[in-house]
Amino acid sequence: MENRKAMVIGTGQMGAGIAQVLASASYNVVLYDLDTQALQKGISKIETSLKKAVQKEKIKECEMNETLARIQDTTSLSNGDDADIVIEAIVENLEVKKEVFKKLDQIVKKEAILASNTSALSITELGSVTKRPEKVIGMHFMNPVPVMKLVEVIRGLSTSEETYKEIKSITESLGKVPVLVKDFPGFVSNRILMPMINEAIYALYEGIASKEAIDEVMKLGMNHPMGPLQLADFIGLDTCLFIMEVLHEGFGDDKYRPCPLLKQYVKGGYLGHKVKRGFYEYE
Ligand code: CAA
Ligand code: NAD
Repeated sequence: MENRKAMVIGTGQMGAGIAQVLASASYNVVLYDLDTQALQKGISKIETSLKKAVQKEKIKECEMNETLARIQDTTSLSNGDDADIVIEAIVENLEVKKEVFKKLDQIVKKEAILASNTSALSITELGSVTKRPEKVIGMHFMNPVPVMKLVEVIRGLSTSEETYKEIKSITESLGKVPVLVKDFPGFVSNRILMPMINEAIYALYEGIASKEAIDEVMKLGMNHPMGPLQLADFIGLDTCLFIMEVLHEGFGDDKYRPCPLLKQYVKGGYLGHKVKRGFYEYE
Protein backbone atom coordinates (compact mmCIF):
# COMPACT_ATOMS: atom_id res chain seq x y z
CA MET A 1 0.00 0.00 0.00
CA GLU A 2 2.96 2.24 -0.84
CA ASN A 3 2.04 5.94 -1.27
CA ARG A 4 -1.52 5.49 -0.02
CA LYS A 5 -2.56 8.07 2.53
CA ALA A 6 -4.72 7.46 5.60
CA MET A 7 -5.99 9.91 8.18
CA VAL A 8 -6.77 8.76 11.73
CA ILE A 9 -9.06 11.00 13.78
CA GLY A 10 -8.54 10.77 17.56
CA THR A 11 -5.30 9.78 19.25
CA GLY A 12 -6.58 7.92 22.26
CA GLN A 13 -5.99 4.27 23.02
CA MET A 14 -7.41 3.12 19.70
CA GLY A 15 -6.29 5.91 17.33
CA ALA A 16 -2.62 5.50 18.25
CA GLY A 17 -2.76 1.74 17.67
CA ILE A 18 -4.58 2.17 14.35
CA ALA A 19 -2.00 4.72 13.17
CA GLN A 20 0.80 2.33 14.16
CA VAL A 21 -0.55 -0.64 12.18
CA LEU A 22 -1.28 1.55 9.14
CA ALA A 23 2.23 3.07 9.15
CA SER A 24 3.79 -0.37 9.71
CA ALA A 25 1.97 -1.51 6.55
CA SER A 26 3.52 1.40 4.57
CA TYR A 27 0.57 3.83 4.61
CA ASN A 28 1.43 7.49 5.01
CA VAL A 29 -0.59 8.50 8.06
CA VAL A 30 -1.96 11.85 9.21
CA LEU A 31 -2.80 11.51 12.89
CA TYR A 32 -5.27 14.13 14.12
CA ASP A 33 -6.61 15.12 17.53
CA LEU A 34 -8.09 18.30 19.00
CA ASP A 35 -5.85 17.92 22.00
CA THR A 36 -2.08 18.43 21.52
CA GLN A 37 -1.31 16.49 24.72
CA ALA A 38 -3.27 13.51 23.41
CA LEU A 39 -1.27 13.71 20.17
CA GLN A 40 2.07 13.74 22.03
CA LYS A 41 0.95 10.86 24.25
CA GLY A 42 -0.18 8.90 21.18
CA ILE A 43 3.10 9.40 19.32
CA SER A 44 5.15 8.38 22.36
CA LYS A 45 2.95 5.28 22.80
CA ILE A 46 3.66 4.30 19.19
CA GLU A 47 7.42 4.89 19.73
CA THR A 48 7.40 2.72 22.86
CA SER A 49 5.52 -0.06 21.12
CA LEU A 50 7.87 -0.04 18.10
CA LYS A 51 10.98 0.09 20.35
CA LYS A 52 9.72 -3.04 22.12
CA ALA A 53 9.31 -4.72 18.74
CA VAL A 54 12.94 -3.80 17.91
CA GLN A 55 14.16 -5.19 21.28
CA LYS A 56 12.29 -8.43 20.58
CA GLU A 57 13.92 -8.50 17.10
CA LYS A 58 10.50 -8.51 15.40
CA ILE A 59 11.52 -5.47 13.32
CA LYS A 60 14.82 -3.74 12.55
CA GLU A 61 15.69 -0.31 13.94
CA CYS A 62 15.62 1.19 10.42
CA GLU A 63 12.06 -0.18 9.95
CA MET A 64 11.00 1.49 13.19
CA ASN A 65 12.44 4.81 11.99
CA GLU A 66 10.78 4.46 8.58
CA THR A 67 7.43 3.67 10.24
CA LEU A 68 7.66 6.69 12.56
CA ALA A 69 8.63 8.93 9.63
CA ARG A 70 5.40 7.94 7.85
CA ILE A 71 3.27 9.41 10.69
CA GLN A 72 2.52 13.13 10.65
CA ASP A 73 0.68 14.45 13.72
CA THR A 74 -1.61 17.43 13.35
CA THR A 75 -4.39 19.46 14.92
CA SER A 76 -5.61 20.59 11.50
CA LEU A 77 -8.13 18.41 9.66
CA SER A 78 -7.18 19.95 6.30
CA ASN A 79 -3.79 18.17 6.44
CA GLY A 80 -5.70 15.02 5.52
CA ASP A 81 -7.76 16.47 2.66
CA ASP A 82 -6.04 14.19 0.12
CA ALA A 83 -6.35 10.99 2.21
CA ASP A 84 -7.64 7.84 0.50
CA ILE A 85 -9.20 6.60 3.71
CA VAL A 86 -10.14 8.25 7.00
CA ILE A 87 -10.59 6.19 10.17
CA GLU A 88 -12.39 8.02 12.97
CA ALA A 89 -11.60 6.90 16.55
CA ILE A 90 -12.86 9.67 18.83
CA VAL A 91 -15.12 9.51 21.88
CA GLU A 92 -18.12 7.12 21.61
CA ASN A 93 -20.75 9.86 21.30
CA LEU A 94 -23.07 9.94 18.28
CA GLU A 95 -23.55 13.72 18.16
CA VAL A 96 -19.80 14.43 18.42
CA LYS A 97 -19.04 11.81 15.75
CA LYS A 98 -21.75 13.26 13.45
CA GLU A 99 -20.16 16.71 13.67
CA VAL A 100 -16.78 15.25 12.73
CA PHE A 101 -18.27 13.27 9.81
CA LYS A 102 -19.98 16.43 8.49
CA LYS A 103 -16.65 18.28 8.57
CA LEU A 104 -14.73 15.39 7.02
CA ASP A 105 -17.27 15.16 4.21
CA GLN A 106 -16.57 18.78 3.30
CA ILE A 107 -12.80 18.61 3.66
CA VAL A 108 -11.64 15.21 2.40
CA LYS A 109 -11.56 14.39 -1.34
CA LYS A 110 -14.84 12.93 -2.56
CA GLU A 111 -13.41 9.52 -3.58
CA ALA A 112 -12.19 8.82 -0.02
CA ILE A 113 -13.80 6.26 2.29
CA LEU A 114 -14.90 7.53 5.72
CA ALA A 115 -14.66 4.69 8.25
CA SER A 116 -15.58 4.70 11.94
CA ASN A 117 -14.03 2.62 14.69
CA THR A 118 -17.22 3.01 16.74
CA SER A 119 -17.89 0.19 19.21
CA ALA A 120 -21.67 0.27 18.95
CA LEU A 121 -23.12 3.31 17.16
CA SER A 122 -25.10 3.30 13.91
CA ILE A 123 -22.97 3.45 10.76
CA THR A 124 -26.15 4.21 8.77
CA GLU A 125 -26.76 7.31 10.90
CA LEU A 126 -23.14 8.49 10.56
CA GLY A 127 -23.40 8.02 6.79
CA SER A 128 -26.66 9.98 6.66
CA VAL A 129 -24.97 13.25 7.68
CA THR A 130 -22.61 13.04 4.69
CA LYS A 131 -23.12 13.38 0.94
CA ARG A 132 -21.34 10.03 0.44
CA PRO A 133 -23.22 7.47 2.61
CA GLU A 134 -22.15 4.75 0.16
CA LYS A 135 -18.55 5.43 1.23
CA VAL A 136 -19.21 5.31 4.99
CA ILE A 137 -18.46 2.04 6.80
CA GLY A 138 -17.58 0.61 10.22
CA MET A 139 -14.01 -0.60 10.68
CA HIS A 140 -14.00 -1.83 14.26
CA PHE A 141 -10.50 -2.66 15.50
CA MET A 142 -9.97 -4.43 18.82
CA ASN A 143 -7.80 -3.25 21.71
CA PRO A 144 -4.75 -3.52 21.74
CA VAL A 145 -4.78 -2.87 18.01
CA PRO A 146 -1.23 -4.08 17.19
CA VAL A 147 -2.01 -7.46 18.80
CA MET A 148 -5.64 -8.30 18.03
CA LYS A 149 -6.39 -9.95 14.69
CA LEU A 150 -10.07 -9.04 14.30
CA VAL A 151 -11.55 -6.10 12.45
CA GLU A 152 -15.34 -6.18 12.59
CA VAL A 153 -16.54 -4.62 9.33
CA ILE A 154 -20.00 -3.03 9.49
CA ARG A 155 -22.02 -2.18 6.42
CA GLY A 156 -24.60 0.56 6.87
CA LEU A 157 -27.82 0.54 4.85
CA SER A 158 -26.20 2.63 2.11
CA THR A 159 -22.62 1.28 2.18
CA SER A 160 -21.69 0.08 -1.31
CA GLU A 161 -20.23 -3.30 -2.22
CA GLU A 162 -17.22 -1.44 -3.65
CA THR A 163 -16.54 0.26 -0.30
CA TYR A 164 -16.87 -3.05 1.57
CA LYS A 165 -14.43 -4.78 -0.82
CA GLU A 166 -11.93 -1.94 -0.46
CA ILE A 167 -12.07 -2.09 3.36
CA LYS A 168 -11.76 -5.88 3.30
CA SER A 169 -8.62 -5.53 1.19
CA ILE A 170 -7.15 -2.74 3.38
CA THR A 171 -7.84 -4.81 6.53
CA GLU A 172 -6.03 -7.80 5.04
CA SER A 173 -3.11 -5.57 4.00
CA LEU A 174 -2.72 -4.74 7.73
CA GLY A 175 -2.42 -8.45 8.59
CA LYS A 176 -5.89 -8.44 10.19
CA VAL A 177 -8.96 -10.60 9.59
CA PRO A 178 -12.14 -8.78 8.49
CA VAL A 179 -15.48 -10.19 9.65
CA LEU A 180 -18.61 -8.71 8.06
CA VAL A 181 -21.59 -7.92 10.29
CA LYS A 182 -24.82 -5.93 9.98
CA ASP A 183 -25.45 -2.48 11.40
CA PHE A 184 -27.33 -3.08 14.68
CA PRO A 185 -26.44 -1.70 18.14
CA GLY A 186 -23.15 -3.14 19.40
CA PHE A 187 -22.78 -5.19 16.19
CA VAL A 188 -21.70 -8.71 17.24
CA SER A 189 -18.61 -8.04 19.39
CA ASN A 190 -20.11 -5.66 21.92
CA ARG A 191 -23.61 -7.15 21.86
CA ILE A 192 -22.00 -10.21 23.42
CA LEU A 193 -18.98 -8.85 25.30
CA MET A 194 -20.47 -5.81 27.01
CA PRO A 195 -23.46 -7.51 28.73
CA MET A 196 -20.93 -9.96 30.21
CA ILE A 197 -18.83 -7.09 31.56
CA ASN A 198 -21.97 -5.29 32.83
CA GLU A 199 -23.08 -8.50 34.59
CA ALA A 200 -19.67 -8.79 36.26
CA ILE A 201 -20.13 -5.21 37.53
CA TYR A 202 -23.59 -6.18 38.87
CA ALA A 203 -21.99 -9.15 40.67
CA LEU A 204 -19.57 -6.72 42.34
CA TYR A 205 -22.39 -4.19 43.06
CA GLU A 206 -24.52 -6.90 44.70
CA GLY A 207 -21.58 -8.10 46.81
CA ILE A 208 -21.52 -11.59 45.30
CA ALA A 209 -17.72 -11.59 45.40
CA SER A 210 -14.68 -9.30 45.47
CA LYS A 211 -13.40 -7.78 42.21
CA GLU A 212 -10.35 -10.07 42.37
CA ALA A 213 -12.56 -13.15 42.85
CA ILE A 214 -14.85 -12.22 39.92
CA ASP A 215 -11.84 -11.76 37.64
CA GLU A 216 -10.18 -14.94 38.87
CA VAL A 217 -13.31 -17.01 38.17
CA MET A 218 -13.40 -15.87 34.55
CA LYS A 219 -9.62 -16.14 34.01
CA LEU A 220 -9.09 -19.56 35.56
CA GLY A 221 -12.53 -20.98 34.92
CA MET A 222 -13.15 -19.77 31.37
CA ASN A 223 -9.57 -19.20 30.21
CA HIS A 224 -10.19 -15.50 29.49
CA PRO A 225 -6.86 -13.64 29.24
CA MET A 226 -8.24 -10.87 31.49
CA GLY A 227 -11.06 -10.89 34.02
CA PRO A 228 -14.13 -8.82 33.00
CA LEU A 229 -13.44 -6.01 35.50
CA GLN A 230 -9.79 -5.80 34.45
CA LEU A 231 -10.97 -5.79 30.81
CA ALA A 232 -13.50 -3.02 31.55
CA ASP A 233 -10.65 -0.91 32.99
CA PHE A 234 -8.55 -1.73 29.92
CA ILE A 235 -11.32 -0.67 27.49
CA GLY A 236 -12.27 2.44 29.51
CA LEU A 237 -15.29 2.59 31.84
CA ASP A 238 -16.70 5.60 29.96
CA THR A 239 -16.59 3.61 26.71
CA CYS A 240 -18.23 0.60 28.44
CA LEU A 241 -21.04 2.85 29.73
CA PHE A 242 -21.57 4.50 26.32
CA ILE A 243 -21.84 1.04 24.73
CA MET A 244 -24.35 -0.22 27.33
CA GLU A 245 -26.43 2.94 26.78
CA VAL A 246 -26.46 2.35 23.02
CA LEU A 247 -27.62 -1.27 23.56
CA HIS A 248 -30.23 -0.23 26.15
CA GLU A 249 -31.67 2.55 24.00
CA GLY A 250 -31.26 0.75 20.68
CA PHE A 251 -33.10 -2.43 21.70
CA GLY A 252 -35.39 -0.85 24.34
CA ASP A 253 -34.77 -3.92 26.48
CA ASP A 254 -34.00 -3.67 30.20
CA LYS A 255 -31.66 -6.63 30.05
CA TYR A 256 -29.10 -4.08 28.81
CA ARG A 257 -29.54 -1.55 31.64
CA PRO A 258 -26.11 -0.25 32.70
CA CYS A 259 -25.17 -1.14 36.29
CA PRO A 260 -25.49 1.86 38.67
CA LEU A 261 -21.97 1.13 39.92
CA LEU A 262 -20.60 1.60 36.39
CA LYS A 263 -22.44 4.95 36.16
CA GLN A 264 -21.06 6.02 39.54
CA TYR A 265 -17.46 5.18 38.58
CA VAL A 266 -17.76 7.15 35.33
CA LYS A 267 -19.33 10.16 37.07
CA GLY A 268 -16.48 10.05 39.61
CA GLY A 269 -13.83 10.09 36.86
CA TYR A 270 -12.77 6.49 37.52
CA LEU A 271 -12.40 5.76 33.81
CA GLY A 272 -10.02 2.81 34.05
CA HIS A 273 -6.47 2.20 32.92
CA LYS A 274 -6.19 5.39 30.81
CA VAL A 275 -6.54 7.59 33.93
CA LYS A 276 -4.77 5.05 36.19
CA ARG A 277 -7.87 4.26 38.26
CA GLY A 278 -11.03 2.30 37.68
CA PHE A 279 -12.00 -0.89 39.44
CA TYR A 280 -8.26 -1.21 40.11
CA GLU A 281 -5.45 1.31 40.56
CA TYR A 282 -2.49 1.41 38.17
CA GLU A 283 1.10 2.66 38.42
N1 CAA B 1 0.79 -2.86 21.86
C1 CAA B 1 1.57 -3.75 21.21
N2 CAA B 1 1.81 -5.00 21.64
C2 CAA B 1 1.25 -5.35 22.81
C3 CAA B 1 0.43 -4.49 23.56
C4 CAA B 1 0.21 -3.19 23.04
N3 CAA B 1 -0.57 -2.30 23.67
N4 CAA B 1 0.03 -5.14 24.68
C5 CAA B 1 0.56 -6.38 24.62
N5 CAA B 1 1.29 -6.50 23.50
C6 CAA B 1 2.02 -7.70 23.03
C7 CAA B 1 3.23 -7.99 23.89
O1 CAA B 1 4.36 -7.27 23.42
C8 CAA B 1 3.39 -9.49 23.72
O2 CAA B 1 4.00 -9.79 22.48
P1 CAA B 1 4.93 -11.12 22.29
O3 CAA B 1 4.03 -12.27 22.56
O4 CAA B 1 5.35 -11.04 20.88
O5 CAA B 1 6.03 -10.98 23.28
C9 CAA B 1 1.95 -9.98 23.63
O6 CAA B 1 1.16 -8.84 23.21
C10 CAA B 1 1.43 -10.49 24.95
O7 CAA B 1 1.60 -9.44 25.90
P2 CAA B 1 2.07 -9.63 27.40
O8 CAA B 1 2.91 -10.88 27.52
O9 CAA B 1 2.64 -8.36 27.90
O10 CAA B 1 0.72 -9.77 28.21
P3 CAA B 1 -0.42 -10.81 28.08
O11 CAA B 1 0.03 -12.15 27.66
O12 CAA B 1 -1.15 -10.66 29.37
O13 CAA B 1 -1.36 -10.21 26.90
C11 CAA B 1 -3.14 -8.91 26.12
C12 CAA B 1 -1.83 -8.92 26.91
C13 CAA B 1 -2.85 -9.25 24.66
C14 CAA B 1 -3.70 -7.50 26.21
C15 CAA B 1 -4.11 -9.98 26.74
O14 CAA B 1 -4.25 -9.74 28.12
C16 CAA B 1 -5.47 -9.99 26.10
O15 CAA B 1 -5.68 -10.55 25.02
N6 CAA B 1 -6.47 -9.35 26.78
C17 CAA B 1 -7.84 -9.29 26.30
C18 CAA B 1 -7.93 -8.22 25.22
C19 CAA B 1 -9.31 -8.10 24.67
O16 CAA B 1 -10.26 -8.80 25.01
N7 CAA B 1 -9.46 -7.13 23.75
C20 CAA B 1 -10.74 -6.81 23.18
C21 CAA B 1 -11.35 -5.70 24.00
S1 CAA B 1 -12.95 -5.27 23.41
C22 CAA B 1 -12.65 -4.26 22.12
O17 CAA B 1 -11.54 -3.93 21.77
C23 CAA B 1 -13.86 -3.77 21.38
C24 CAA B 1 -14.59 -2.62 21.95
O18 CAA B 1 -15.28 -1.98 21.15
C25 CAA B 1 -14.61 -2.27 23.37
P1 NAD C 1 -10.04 7.57 24.24
O1 NAD C 1 -10.87 8.22 25.26
O2 NAD C 1 -8.80 6.85 24.65
O3 NAD C 1 -9.59 8.65 23.12
C1 NAD C 1 -10.48 9.48 22.44
C2 NAD C 1 -9.64 10.58 21.76
O4 NAD C 1 -10.53 11.32 20.92
C3 NAD C 1 -9.01 11.55 22.72
O5 NAD C 1 -7.63 11.68 22.41
C4 NAD C 1 -9.76 12.88 22.47
O6 NAD C 1 -8.90 14.03 22.60
C5 NAD C 1 -10.17 12.69 21.03
N1 NAD C 1 -11.35 13.48 20.64
C6 NAD C 1 -12.51 13.62 21.31
N2 NAD C 1 -13.37 14.39 20.59
C7 NAD C 1 -12.71 14.73 19.44
C8 NAD C 1 -13.05 15.49 18.30
N3 NAD C 1 -14.25 16.06 18.18
N4 NAD C 1 -12.12 15.62 17.32
C9 NAD C 1 -10.91 15.02 17.43
N5 NAD C 1 -10.53 14.29 18.49
C10 NAD C 1 -11.41 14.15 19.49
O7 NAD C 1 -11.01 6.60 23.42
P2 NAD C 1 -10.67 5.19 22.73
O8 NAD C 1 -10.74 4.13 23.77
O9 NAD C 1 -9.47 5.33 21.86
O10 NAD C 1 -11.98 5.01 21.84
C11 NAD C 1 -12.13 5.70 20.61
C12 NAD C 1 -13.22 5.05 19.79
O11 NAD C 1 -12.86 3.66 19.55
C13 NAD C 1 -14.60 5.02 20.44
O12 NAD C 1 -15.57 5.13 19.44
C14 NAD C 1 -14.62 3.63 21.09
O13 NAD C 1 -15.93 3.16 21.30
C15 NAD C 1 -13.89 2.81 20.04
N6 NAD C 1 -13.26 1.58 20.52
C16 NAD C 1 -12.67 1.55 21.75
C17 NAD C 1 -12.08 0.37 22.18
C18 NAD C 1 -11.39 0.28 23.52
O14 NAD C 1 -11.10 -0.84 23.97
N7 NAD C 1 -11.11 1.39 24.19
C19 NAD C 1 -12.06 -0.76 21.35
C20 NAD C 1 -12.64 -0.67 20.07
C21 NAD C 1 -13.26 0.51 19.68
